[in-house]
Amino acid sequence: MNKVYMETYGCQMNVYDSEIVKRILTDHRFELAEKPEEASIIFLNTCSVRENAQQKVFQRLHVLKKLKSNNKELIIGVLGCMAQSMRQELLNGKAGVDIIAGPDSYKRLPDLIENFRLNGEKEFELTLSEYETYSDIFPEPDDDVNAWIAVMRGCNNFCTFCIVPYTRGRERSRDPYNILQETQKLAEQGIKQVTLLGQNVNSYRYNQYDFADLMKIISEVDDIKRIRFTSPHHKDFPLKLLKVMAENPKICKHIHLPLQAGNTRILDLMNRTYSKEEFLDLVSLIRQMMPDITLTTDIIVGFPTETENDFLDTLDVITKVEFDAAFMFKYSERKHTIASRKYPDDVPEEEKSSRLIELVNLQKRIALKKNRQHIGHIFEVLVEGKGKKPAQLLGRNDGNKIVVFPGNGASNGDMVSVKIEEATANTLIGSAV
Ligand code: SAH
Ligand code: SF4
Ligand code: F3S
Repeated sequence: MNKVYMETYGCQMNVYDSEIVKRILTDHRFELAEKPEEASIIFLNTCSVRENAQQKVFQRLHVLKKLKSNNKELIIGVLGCMAQSMRQELLNGKAGVDIIAGPDSYKRLPDLIENFRLNGEKEFELTLSEYETYSDIFPEPDDDVNAWIAVMRGCNNFCTFCIVPYTRGRERSRDPYNILQETQKLAEQGIKQVTLLGQNVNSYRYNQYDFADLMKIISEVDDIKRIRFTSPHHKDFPLKLLKVMAENPKICKHIHLPLQAGNTRILDLMNRTYSKEEFLDLVSLIRQMMPDITLTTDIIVGFPTETENDFLDTLDVITKVEFDAAFMFKYSERKHTIASRKYPDDVPEEEKSSRLIELVNLQKRIALKKNRQHIGHIFEVLVEGKGKKPAQLLGRNDGNKIVVFPGNGASNGDMVSVKIEEATANTLIGSAV
């Protein structure tokens, strides 16, 4: 009667939030189901960032709805960003959704379930909070090596293409000492690496503490060997933060620094608050202070009015910076956003596709070149699990690159020195030394 099955879409914040939801529900005498067929309640924690992310969820709902014919009591709920942005579409009878809860409403879930059972009417709770940080809930990590920790929630940046400020609400940060407690508890459970999360993680601020202070505090936990963070914004990289990163061996030398576009006019229309030159300047400063830094990025092609010539600036920045990896997307117009109101989605689909292919091909060549430069190097690899091949282990180096090597008896959570012998665009291959 009270078995819950959860499925998660979207970013790491959603992965963390799903762990919070599981903790809230198990604290209220719900149990977790392994499969949707075994569940009396199915929750999808969803993402709205691009149209295809939403399509995936609607397709999944269509499949899950069929389970209701065998199980009349089955409750289907939609959580997360789509709950917030697609309320009308989800509440319409066709979707088969009974409960809708936005990212700040998870503590209400036990009530929403109870009310639905009592009244049989669709329940929703979509209030966005200026305060909710779930700091009183320490979720159980899904993994035995890495744990996510949300340190701030929401976003105030309003990049014109992005729906996140509308689905996640305003920025708010957690008390650093509360985050420290969560980290200590994770360390006691054997976690070796924490990844600090926020929609705009480096704009973290709690009273006098900024993001650099927070990382310093967290790094005092002995058994935590590595600290990562995602996603930062260009505007919040004071020298102090770069110094703390450079000096603190536990803070991984990897920055995911979303570029979005290389052309200054497009960056202005996107409200990214930096020019092409300012982005390149920050990259130079970062490299000056941390020569071995791994840099990754996010890029959107085909933002409204982007010409072939504007797109060449994106290729130019990619060529100059040589990111180690990139997530690359076609612009997808989102409801509510400033771009959807001000700028018609005017770049033809074929143009978007051909730009994306060109970009992906260029980036693949760069990634391969950069990975091949690692051949002969020895990296400390934090073992995460088994590789695809028999007896192979998989882990990551400090720069977050995947390293596979023949098993040497090491277990998950061990640090192993691995000498790199081969490289593909995505993986480093070596053996323990
Ligand atoms: N807060 C993070 C990322 C949020 S969304 C940041 O600022 O970096 C993750 C990525 O999805 C973005 O970096 C962007 O590249 C992409 N994205 C967001 N909205 C999009 C849209 N409307 N169309 C295509 N890609 C989008
Ligand atoms: Fe979206 Fe921009 Fe906020 Fe990132 S910084 S979540 S891209 S509005
Ligand atoms: Fe998607 Fe919401 Fe994350 S829109 S990317 S799940 S913040």
